[in-house]
Amino acid sequence: MTTASMTPSARFSRPQASISRSCSSHLKIMKKGGALRKECSVPPFMEERMFEVKNLTKVYDDGTVALRDVSFEVNPGEFLVIIGLSGSGKSTLLRCINRLIEPTEGQILWDGEDITAAESTQLRQIRRQIGMIFQQFNLVKRSNVLTNVLSGRLGYVNPWASLYHHFPAQDRKLAMQALERVGIADQARKRADELSGGQQQRVGVARALMQQPRMILADEPVASLDPVLAHTILGYLEQMNQEDDITVLCSLHYLDLVQRYATRVIGLREGQIVYRGSREDIRKMTDEEFKEIYGEDARQVEIR
Ligand SMILES: Nc1ncnc2c1ncn2[C@@H]1O[C@H](COP(=O)(O)OP(=O)(O)O)[C@@H](O)[C@H]1O
Ligand SMILES: [Mg+2]
Repeated sequence: MTTASMTPSARFSRPQASISRSCSSHLKIMKKGGALRKECSVPPFMEERMFEVKNLTKVYDDGTVALRDVSFEVNPGEFLVIIGLSGSGKSTLLRCINRLIEPTEGQILWDGEDITAAESTQLRQIRRQIGMIFQQFNLVKRSNVLTNVLSGRLGYVNPWASLYHHFPAQDRKLAMQALERVGIADQARKRADELSGGQQQRVGVARALMQQPRMILADEPVASLDPVLAHTILGYLEQMNQEDDITVLCSLHYLDLVQRYATRVIGLREGQIVYRGSREDIRKMTDEEFKEIYGEDARQVEIR
């Protein structure tokens, strides 16, 4: 069992928004194993679908089947969380969605357009609308914070201008606003690698925000951060979800973070969807059920 001290509440740089932190039972799964016995109830879906994954399969060159016939949809405004053990296919799924890796089979429909079939211009148009936040932040370490945030704008600026970092004044203003929003405007001129992990992920959030996306994909965005910082970062994502109408598709590892932020959950195991749950389902979920998704031998680590 691991313990960590917590502060009871947090406040964002935008005064109207605040979150409460309930950090009493972060459950971290340490080990895989066992079989899933049942699949939980499927919630009623809204009609309006912005995004749909159909029968997605990914087989890597070495024969590893990372995703098997995965199908689900994302409705506008959702905060959809993907859960699953390490190696269950979460990163593969998120990376297939913006075609950082090529799926082997299946379709990914964005407003009815198939991302898997999109050519470069169309793909660029679609990618503009989908921001990405990474577990390891993926900042250009030697560039300063402002340049990193401005790179979120690359889908919009003339490629020659972006090559020489000639961003319009309006973009610089937007980048500073994004940094203010995540509370680190005073760090704008620092090199990215001079920042702490929590600050670097705030830059990651600001970079995604700079893109003015319709959807954000976040691949375990808080797995490298302590629980207090995890709430801060997820709080920003929740704020973007609720106030800016940005749909969020995010993988997470801790049950109480999932319960706190998710509006819907899918569980992956060995590349297959083994759980679908609504906000209500996930709030009622017991440690035992959570454990089933991860495996019978999963060891849970509670942080108080
Ligand atoms: N480039 C790759 N080549 C071969 N196998 C890979 C590659 N990337 C991931 N895998 C495998 O695919 C499976 C899913 O991995 P991943 O999507 O990273 O899972 P998760 O993000 O849930 O930890 C794992 O078995 C992993 O070892
Ligand atoms: Mg991963």
